Amino acid sequence: MPSIAIYSVKGGVGKTTFSVNLAWCSASISRRETLLWDLDASNGSGFLLGVDPKKKRSAQSVFDLDNDPRKLVQKTDYDNLHLLPADESIRTLDRQFHRIGKKKRLASIVTKLSKDYERVIFDCPPVLNEVSAQVMRAADLVIVPLPPSPLSTRAFEQVVEEVRGSGKKHPPILPVLSMVDMRRTLHKQAREANPKWPVVPLASAIEQCAVERRPVGAFAPRSPAARAFAQLWTAIERKLAKG
Ligand SMILES: Nc1ncnc2c1ncn2[C@@H]1O[C@H](COP(=O)(O)OP(=O)(O)O)[C@@H](O)[C@H]1O
Ligand SMILES: [Mg+2]
Repeated sequence: MPSIAIYSVKGGVGKTTFSVNLAWCSASISRRETLLWDLDASNGSGFLLGVDPKKKRSAQSVFDLDNDPRKLVQKTDYDNLHLLPADESIRTLDRQFHRIGKKKRLASIVTKLSKDYERVIFDCPPVLNEVSAQVMRAADLVIVPLPPSPLSTRAFEQVVEEVRGSGKKHPPILPVLSMVDMRRTLHKQAREANPKWPVVPLASAIEQCAVERRPVGAFAPRSPAARAFAQLWTAIERKLAKG
């Protein structure tokens, strides 16, 4: 069962937006049983999916082998799409992993979940620590959202170096230009410098996701933004198929 991490060491680049919209594409367009696993304590993925948090802060307990991870999974309004929500308890996850001392704890939970899901998507926190290292050991593909700038190529190389530094082997990494406005010269130049990178446009429909608390494909399916995520999802499926 392939798992896909949406990752960057930076915040505010579009990780949660990508995670929710790509998970929706996986569930609704590819019709795959999909789990969106939120690893960022702010629980942005749950918010954008309109899933309200449970009172009990139990997200961290999923890493305890005595617990059945499926018990923490929540339903969403969408067929084939489930959420493993985050909460404040996840802030100390780095320390918890060090205490457990198992480098593949997250990967083994993913294996447990693989009976029920065909795709797992990780909404990652903007960190470079044992949490990101565990995700890199579990993921089959890493998507890095990059806001366009003259430095985006450099920013991407930095992420690759950082991921490399966290372990000898790492999964393939796909850079994606995020929040692209082709009316802006610098954005156009960033696009021209990296013509093969997929693009997600800067769009008010995407900002609107936080108001609607729905993925853009669910309320504006014909918008350029929804089409961009659908195309990106197709590219991801193709990359996974190549292995
Ligand atoms: N393509 C886009 N067009 C317009 N706004 C966007 C786009 N992508 C993200 N945003 C906005 O940028 C902010 C940060 O996005 P978010 O996905 O939360 O980033 P991260 O998870 O990397 O911190 C949010 O307010 C989101 O609505
Ligand atoms: Mg986020």
